[in-house]
Amino acid sequence: MTKKILIANELPDEARMIVPSDYQVDYNPSDVPMSKADFVARLADRDGLICHIISTVDDDVIAAAPGLEVIANVAVGFNNIDVPAARRRGIVVTNTPDVLTETTADFAWALLMAAARRIVEADQYARSGQWSAWKWNLLWGADVHGKTLGVIGFGRIGRAVARRAQGFGMRVLYYDTTPADLPTERDVHASRVDFDTLLRDSDFVTLHTLLSPETRHLINETALREMKRTAILVNASRGPVVDEAALVRALTESWIAGAGLDVFEDEPKIHPGLLPLKNVVLAPHIASASRDTRLAMATLAVRNCIAVLGGKPPITPVP
Ligand code: GLV
Repeated sequence: MTKKILIANELPDEARMIVPSDYQVDYNPSDVPMSKADFVARLADRDGLICHIISTVDDDVIAAAPGLEVIANVAVGFNNIDVPAARRRGIVVTNTPDVLTETTADFAWALLMAAARRIVEADQYARSGQWSAWKWNLLWGADVHGKTLGVIGFGRIGRAVARRAQGFGMRVLYYDTTPADLPTERDVHASRVDFDTLLRDSDFVTLHTLLSPETRHLINETALREMKRTAILVNASRGPVVDEAALVRALTESWIAGAGLDVFEDEPKIHPGLLPLKNVVLAPHIASASRDTRLAMATLAVRNCIAVLGGKPPITPVP
């Protein structure tokens, strides 16, 4: 039987070309999320779905597609999908780990460095015409080398971020519910500590955890008040891991020194309190957005979908 798939949003030609020619493909080339009504209607007779994080694949959507066998998310995070609802119906859910690890770690570092050394402010100042002479006390920032990096969520991306810290001669602490094995800890020179110790001792706190009920608002007012007043928070995981209203107060009232954020609680909305602040660097959820990595993610999602529809095990099922 001809397999029918829905590609819910824009996907590069290189990835779509892998779809076997006898598949019937409904492709929505837009980067705007479909309305729920459209999504449900277009998914109803499909065997496979390839989607981005902008597609909310909830219980209703899944229930409306009785023949669905696979949901292939083009992302490592999968909080846009009701995975238990899919599993109850025997639907396989896949994500795109590994291929984006290094690119995302690079970007977390870009945010960290930009926030520490005030790169965005410096760029704005240099362009503005205000720069009339070299100034001794212009745009002083924080050192990165030799400081303590605290990694919350010590999975693939957290470890890749930690590995980069060696080049800066940093001490690395991590917090995760599961300890890493000793060779991994040694490899990246990291020590596991409890949550409060990490917050209290780190100069930079970087978030790399999945969004779950346990991690929602993990960084709340209490956590922010525990951090050093000189600390910088980096979030390239999921927005709701941080209580954004509390973060606005922390940055405004100098409980912490700064932040670098790629993700937000209610994307694409950004808490209005963040926008005027100079001590926060903001990015529109682009940590994995290098050309090579986005292509690799798209290709892996298509391969996952085809594998399942071809009766094979998924390459990267969600854990
Ligand atoms: C991006 O946010 C991803 O989860 O891959």
